[in-house]
Amino acid sequence: MNPGRLQGRVAIITGGARGIGKAIAFKIVQEGALVSLLDILGDLVAQTAEELRAIGGKALGLKADVRQKEKVGQAVQRTLDHFGRMDILVNNAGIVQPALLEDVKEEDWEAVVNTNLKGTLICTRAVLPTMKKNRYGKIINIGSRSSLGKELRTVYSATKAGLIGMTRTWALELAPHNINVNYVGPGPIATELFKASNPEDSPKTRALVNGIPLKRMGEPEDVANLVSFLASDESSFITGQAIFICGGLTVGIAHY
Ligand SMILES: NC(=O)c1ccc[n+]([C@@H]2O[C@H](COP(=O)([O-])OP(=O)(O)OC[C@H]3O[C@@H](n4cnc5c(N)ncnc54)[C@H](O)[C@@H]3O)[C@@H](O)[C@H]2O)c1
Repeated sequence: MNPGRLQGRVAIITGGARGIGKAIAFKIVQEGALVSLLDILGDLVAQTAEELRAIGGKALGLKADVRQKEKVGQAVQRTLDHFGRMDILVNNAGIVQPALLEDVKEEDWEAVVNTNLKGTLICTRAVLPTMKKNRYGKIINIGSRSSLGKELRTVYSATKAGLIGMTRTWALELAPHNINVNYVGPGPIATELFKASNPEDSPKTRALVNGIPLKRMGEPEDVANLVSFLASDESSFITGQAIFICGGLTVGIAHY
């Protein structure tokens, strides 16, 4: 633990109402950050912000769809009005529509690409003027190990691989402005939603865990710990990197 390494920093976390985004919010609030959570789920995001305030954090919960430029712009402005600054953006909102290649529907392509890729573009462009003016920024894009290939993930893997290209490009474009851009690619993470549909002792869950070199599921807090480091000045010489947090799955071939 490094209490206070994000002291006074203001962070926007998209998709912060639940799951990995919520865990990131709790972690960075404990590190001293003030957070603004953007989520399409208005009631839940308000509740999550309330939970953060209940532990002594400073948090705003804002209903916004990352696909809507105007709404995102308004949410960023409210964050600036409320906290007076903005330093960190975690592009975490993301969706998946599992389907075999032959079964991918055009509307699923639109929804997943617009949320995972265009949403990230919209949110990043909305914070850029402030970050550039301050000559300071940390942008963390939440991708996935599936970017390297996974069955039933044609569209999802394309978007998460696309985010790597965007991350590397933005790292170069924004380095002169002292803005770091990195990508975090989680492997299977046992969020509440996952646990609800995959009981720990089910054969499916056991098979999944057995395929992970470290023989356990990731926890949302594993991802939050890495994001907190990348959001801090302890990682100030790291930019344009894709870091997988997946219990060794990306090197699983070594286990054959
Ligand atoms: N859980 C995993 O195993 C796992 C693995 C790899 C990558 N990821 C990635 O991590 C991120 C978080 O995943 P999670 O498991 O916590 O999922 P989740 O569904 O629990 O949380 C995602 C959040 O994003 C919000 N959201 C979705 N569309 C949005 C939109 N258009 N605008 C604003 N908010 C929106 C949802 O309401 C939700 O609160 C995603 O980008 C996901 O692709 C998750």
